[in-house]
Amino acid sequence: MVNVKPFAVEQWMDKYELTAKYNIAETCCASVSVDDLKELSDDKSSPVVDLSNKLTYGPIRGSERLRGTLANLYSVKTPTALPADNVLITAGAIQANFLLLYSLVGPGDHVICHYPTYQQLYSVPESLGAEVSLWKSKEKEGWKLDIDELKGLIRPNTKLIIINNPQNPTGAIIPQSTLEDIVDIAREKSIIIHSDEVYRPLFHSISPMDKDFPLSILSLGYENTITTGSMSKSYSLAGTRVGWIASRNRSLIETCAAARDYTTISVGQIDDAIASYALAPSCIHNLLKRNIELAKKNIDILENFIESHRWACDWVKPRAGTVAFVRFNKLGKPVDDVAFCDMLQERTGVMFVPGSLCFGEGADFKGYVRIGFVQETEVLEKGLEALRSFMEEGYEDVPAIKK
Ligand SMILES: Cc1ncc(COP(=O)(O)O)c(C=O)c1O
Repeated sequence: MVNVKPFAVEQWMDKYELTAKYNIAETCCASVSVDDLKELSDDKSSPVVDLSNKLTYGPIRGSERLRGTLANLYSVKTPTALPADNVLITAGAIQANFLLLYSLVGPGDHVICHYPTYQQLYSVPESLGAEVSLWKSKEKEGWKLDIDELKGLIRPNTKLIIINNPQNPTGAIIPQSTLEDIVDIAREKSIIIHSDEVYRPLFHSISPMDKDFPLSILSLGYENTITTGSMSKSYSLAGTRVGWIASRNRSLIETCAAARDYTTISVGQIDDAIASYALAPSCIHNLLKRNIELAKKNIDILENFIESHRWACDWVKPRAGTVAFVRFNKLGKPVDDVAFCDMLQERTGVMFVPGSLCFGEGADFKGYVRIGFVQETEVLEKGLEALRSFMEEGYEDVPAIKK
C-alpha cells in the first residue's frame, strides 16, 4: 500500500459540492453542455461527435486530431512547432500529473515544488520516496517566487522543479522574467521543469501585451520542460475528463507513455471528439471569449464584496485562472477557516474551501478560503448575498485562531 497523504482539497469538494446551494468553491469556468458548445461554435454543420463511429478503444495515445490541435496551440509564438507525437492524452490533468510524477520521480530524487499549490504536486512525489522542498511564494509581494531562494534549494540530486502557472489557490501568475530565470537555472543543472498549466489561457487581469504575461513553459526554448493541461478549467468541460501531457523532449513523453499503458489504454473516443471540437479554431476563440468575459465580470463583483468588507477580509487580487485566496480575520486575528467554511455551508449553503486544511502545511494559511468565482454570475451574486447576510449576523460566532 502506497503511503500517500489524504488529498485534502479533493476530499473537501467530494464532501460538500453536491449539496452546496451556492458552490463558489468550484475551479472550473461555468460548465457547458454539448449543445452549448455547438451554439458557441462557428461550425454548425459538423457533428460534435460522429455517432456512427464504432466505439473501439480508438487511438491509444489520443486522436491525431486532438493531439495535433493541442500541438498547434503550443506552437504559437515559438520558432519550432511542437509535433503531435509530443502530446499524450490522459484522463484529466490529475492523471497527467500523476503519470508524469510516477514516471519521473523515485527514491533518491529531490523535487522542488512551488507552494502553496494543488497538493498532488508535492504529496505524490513524497509518496514515491522523493525528498520534497517547498518553494514558498510570498504573499506580501503578490505571491512572488524568489529566484535566490530557488538557487538555495537546489541539490545535486534535484530531478524536477514543479511550478503551477497560473496558480491554484492564489490566482497569481509567474511572470515571464521569472520563468526565464527558472529555465536558466534548470538548464545549467539539467533539471526537468514540470509546469502544471491547467488554468492557461484564462488571463482575466493581465494583457498579453504586458511584459509579465507568461508564455507556456514549452515556449522558452528549453527541451527538458513538460506541461500538463486540461479541458476542465478554462474550457468548461470537466465532464469530458480529458487532459494531456506535452513536452519538448520526446523521450519524456515516451517514459510517461510506458507507464500510461498500465493504467489507461485510451481515453474515451466520445470525450476525445468533444475536446477536439471545442479546441478547433471554429470554437476555441468563442469559448475562451465567453470564459474570459465571465471571469472579468465576476472578479469585479467579488472585488466589490471584498472592498466593502475590508474590516474582515483581504486578498492579493488574482490575475489569471478561476480562483482567489481570501484571508478572513477578526480584529487582526485569522478566523478558524475550517469552522468558518463548515458554518457557512450549514447556515447559508455557500461553499468555500478552507485554506489551512486544503493548501497549508503545518500552521500555514489559517484564516484563508479559496473562492472559485468563474461560476454563472447569478450563482456568485446569490452566494455573495448570502455571505453578506452572514457577515452581519453570523460572523460573530466564527471562532478566531488563538496564538
Ligand atoms: C492545479 C491543478 N492541476 C490539476 C487539476 C486536475 O484537473 P482535471 O483532472 O480536472 O483536469 C486541478 C483541479 O483542480 C488543479 O487545480
